[in-house]
Amino acid sequence: MTDTLTFTDGRTGTTFDAPIEDGTVRATALRQARASDDDFGLMTYDPAFMNTASVRSAITFIDGDKGILRYRGYPIEQLAERSTYLETAHLLIFGELPTQEELAHWAHDVTHHTFLHENVKRLMEGFRYDAHPMGMLISVVAALSTFYPEASKVDDREVRMRQVVRLIAKVPTIAAWSFRHNQGLPYVYPENELGFTANFLSMIFRMAEPRYCVEPALERALEVLFILHADHEQNCSANVMRSIGSSKADPYVSLAGAAAALYGPLHGGANEAVLRMLAEIGDVRRVPEFISSVKAGHGRLMGFGHRVYKNYDPRARIIKQTADEVFEITGRNPLLDIALELEKIALEDDYFVSRRLYPNVDFYSGLIYQALGLPTAMFPVMFAIPRTAGWLAQWLEGVQDPEQKIARPRQIYMGSDERDFVAIEDRGRAATVA
Ligand code: ACO
Repeated sequence: MTDTLTFTDGRTGTTFDAPIEDGTVRATALRQARASDDDFGLMTYDPAFMNTASVRSAITFIDGDKGILRYRGYPIEQLAERSTYLETAHLLIFGELPTQEELAHWAHDVTHHTFLHENVKRLMEGFRYDAHPMGMLISVVAALSTFYPEASKVDDREVRMRQVVRLIAKVPTIAAWSFRHNQGLPYVYPENELGFTANFLSMIFRMAEPRYCVEPALERALEVLFILHADHEQNCSANVMRSIGSSKADPYVSLAGAAAALYGPLHGGANEAVLRMLAEIGDVRRVPEFISSVKAGHGRLMGFGHRVYKNYDPRARIIKQTADEVFEITGRNPLLDIALELEKIALEDDYFVSRRLYPNVDFYSGLIYQALGLPTAMFPVMFAIPRTAGWLAQWLEGVQDPEQKIARPRQIYMGSDERDFVAIEDRGRAATVA
């Protein structure tokens, strides 16, 4: 047995070999198969990357069938129990858990970059009073590119790492100020004496008190949520981060693009959609009716299903526990009963079982955010804050990978053959193009 894929091109009867490496064959190996001399060669067609590895990565491992998620080899369950967000961010970015000294240095660095230029504040004040905080976050992160023009030197390690620290430090400030803007409240400046999540909660909730008092259990719950959301290998937004980064654009605009991808309801916007869905159902008694309508093709059960997990999302399991701990302090979210009933029915229903649809990370996270007092519009923002570390780890790996070039898929052209330009007065009624 050799590690080779042998295939025969039925058009010519020629047989080819393609080496198999790490369970993959290179798509370019198919190019050997040509129907004629001027044929470009065979390509693969893979809309939505259903079966294509686009990178070699050492950051995050997922086994979707077994429900396994590891960052740099460490199981997510152990990190959620024993780590902090900043420590996990260090792990993702540098590849190793920090020593005490490294962690102190890293935390100091991040803490001392949380302030925003006052002009960024003015820029934010220019948004409409009811601007969606995720729209603000995306725009303001992109705008940071103009404050740090050196960031364009993406081949310089030192410059790259400075932007990494800045982004991890400043995204929570932008996120919190987007919330305050949306609420019509004054922006709260960062507090260097507070830890990463406590400082974020202070920037979100502090009013007239001289120092915001953070409930330790809520601070820990947020740490856990941030750890669980820190990375998820080549998902839609990570792919965007790498794709924009592949043109050597700076990390601010690349990250703004990644955050835009996260905004959609099929990705990070799902937790917002889950809460809207639960509110729409409104009563446990209406759950069977709602499930029937999903099965009849009217909408989806938001927070269910995943491209990679065909088993219970391990993050959803941890979040469910965290939700219980949070509700002990904040009181039970009345929508929880609807969520539990939906999960119970869906896990027994053949429609969901046969399609291997299980709750994903977003099914319960929104309930926690709501219990913390955050409006649904903030949910995707709460996802983007910790994912910043993951996006940056993916970006760093991408820009340093000698095998990567500018991302540029091929297409199968389905349009008209060549035709001559027609003067406007000679044109018939044009077919409507969607
Ligand atoms: N509710 C009902 N049916 C579903 C759902 C759902 N949530 N998800 C998938 N299906 C069905 C599809 O209709 C399809 O059925 P069919 O074979 O009869 O046509 C089948 O399951 C496969 O679905 P696809 O859309 O092909 O699966 P894909 O891998 O492309 O989609 C996705 C994954 C986008 C996450 C999908 O499951 C979905 O839309 N879920 C709801 C949105 C959501 O929760 N997104 C968050 C994902 S996690 C994250 O980004 C953090």
